[in-house]
Amino acid sequence: MYYFVEPMREIDIGEVQKIERCSFSTLWSANTYRRELRNPESSRYIVVRASRTPPLPTLRASDVAAQRSNWFGTLFAGFFSGHEINTEYPIVGYGGLWLTVDDAHITTIAVAPSHRGQGLGELLLNGLIDHAQDLHAALLTLEVRVSNVVAQNLYLKYGFYIAGRRPRYYTDNAEDALIMSTDAIHSHEYRARLSALRHQLFARLRTQAEITGALPGQVQPIEPPATTSSVEVPFKPSGL
Ligand SMILES: CC(C)(COP(=O)(O)OP(=O)(O)OC[C@H]1O[C@@H](n2cnc3c(N)ncnc32)[C@H](O)[C@@H]1OP(=O)(O)O)[C@@H](O)C(=O)NCCC(=O)NCCS
Repeated sequence: MYYFVEPMREIDIGEVQKIERCSFSTLWSANTYRRELRNPESSRYIVVRASRTPPLPTLRASDVAAQRSNWFGTLFAGFFSGHEINTEYPIVGYGGLWLTVDDAHITTIAVAPSHRGQGLGELLLNGLIDHAQDLHAALLTLEVRVSNVVAQNLYLKYGFYIAGRRPRYYTDNAEDALIMSTDAIHSHEYRARLSALRHQLFARLRTQAEITGALPGQVQPIEPPATTSSVEVPFKPSGL
């Protein structure tokens, strides 16, 4: 199976909500998604799509440059050549973040149950890290249920550490949240860690595509771009 990351659009909301319903007990309204998508200066949302064969062009010309700044988007760059958007590739995961004063807060991330355990949570997290860097965030933060060990493992793998705890944070069952945070995402150490993880993930996804995909050898890896430097950004309240 071939997977690729794209910006989320308003027409994707229904498909995203189907995954959300299988993943979370507290749900967002369609209007909440719309509000987020209409505020790209401080909110970024992405989806990962699946294709059984190397995907046909799916991006408008105006999207190509933006997509090429994201090395995951360029996984199938040879197929993105300025055609109109089509939606024939199902969405199998999504994620988003908000920019706050000096950090990017991951608001949501989920993979369809049928596609978990294949590296797509990592793919999404990497896409969000790219957007955080693009927004000049200094670091990443999030809240996660104390019982959600799978998600915590994903975050620990990407250099998040437990920075605190919010007692009874979740309204459905009064469960505590762990606050997790990275160190500075522009630091040499974090970039080196990210680069190593990305190359491992890239190799894994390429192998999976070659095993299950139609045409081995058509996926051309492209190196991650250099990251940007951090600057202070306007405040926006956050919460998962
Ligand atoms: C959390 C979630 C996004 C992970 O997505 P995924 O595609 O299954 O995860 P990946 O295959 O990319 O795995 C990445 C890492 O997560 C951890 N992980 C994944 N599945 C795991 C499992 N069953 N048990 C323990 N750790 C696991 C591992 O650290 C894994 O790295 P590894 O492959 O080197 O061991 C997914 O489980 C999900 O959608 N959960 C429901 C929604 C949710 O809880 N979101 C997080 C809110 S804070």
